[in-house]
Amino acid sequence: MKLQRRVLLAAAGSAGLAALAPAVQAQAYPTKPITVIVPFAAGGPTDALARVLCQKMSEILGQQLVVENVGGAGGTIGVNKVAKAANDGYTLLFTHMGTLAVNIALYKSLPYDSQKDLEPIGMGGTNPMVLVTKKDLPAKDFGEFMAYVKANQKKVQYGMAGIGAASHLGGLMLNSMMKVEVLEIPYKGTGPALNDLVSGTFDYMVDQAVNVLPQISSGNVKALGVSTLKRLPQLPDVPTIDEAGLKGYEVTIWNGFFGPKGMAKENIAKVNDALARTLADATVSKRLTELAVDLPSKEEGTPEALRSLLKSSIDKWVPAVQAAGVKPE
Ligand code: MLT
Repeated sequence: MKLQRRVLLAAAGSAGLAALAPAVQAQAYPTKPITVIVPFAAGGPTDALARVLCQKMSEILGQQLVVENVGGAGGTIGVNKVAKAANDGYTLLFTHMGTLAVNIALYKSLPYDSQKDLEPIGMGGTNPMVLVTKKDLPAKDFGEFMAYVKANQKKVQYGMAGIGAASHLGGLMLNSMMKVEVLEIPYKGTGPALNDLVSGTFDYMVDQAVNVLPQISSGNVKALGVSTLKRLPQLPDVPTIDEAGLKGYEVTIWNGFFGPKGMAKENIAKVNDALARTLADATVSKRLTELAVDLPSKEEGTPEALRSLLKSSIDKWVPAVQAAGVKPE
């Protein structure tokens, strides 16, 4: 009888411990480095933003957030890797709306469903874009640029980071509104693309300000228009593309952290909190603001807000890209 009681108590004890175990594990997260997949090449805007954020978030979380660049196919290879990864919180994604919303209109089929296969964690910020050309392109303003591209459609080439990339969206909307068809040169990211623009391999690109501002200020590329409806404080002399002649042109790019579907809510909350504290850090926010990143408000910073933003971006961009007449690949 005694033996039976002891066995029962022991069983109850281990059951109790087992019930506690997930909570203890969740509290302890993260206990080892976290891989953050950036679905574009190193040295571009997504990579640069991820590295600024991950450095501070690593300090806050007490574990290294290690950026891994998995570029190619407009970011879809890297996103798919996260969509198929274990949802234990040790593989995360930092990407932008191109790979999650815009590319739905540009591929006949995608290997993931961005709304079903990923858990939104938090938004990193919104980025304006800039139309930049090689420095010896014979056009000193947007009007001359448009006339030059129209007159030279057979030889003009524009660079982008693959189908569905932010630079693709910026370029395709520009080309469609200018009513031109020019050759696209795809790269694994606009980091390597920008190097080639500086050396004059192709003619122009629409890329996020965060990537191109340093090359504009050193005079290695020319900035002929910004993609927002207001001029940027960093480029007060550069007109908006809208004011320079393409009424209604407006493209901004948000980015954020996501995990694989089913990532534990407590772990999502921990990463979200580290992100919020990173964005509130004076040094980080000053650095990002200098790079023209518009930081999210507290309300915009929640996982739920990112989920709604993803949905509203799909609702906005899929029909807009379809209306631009781009055929899915
Ligand atoms: C893009 O065009 O989607 C991005 O600029 C890619 C990148 O971060 O390199």
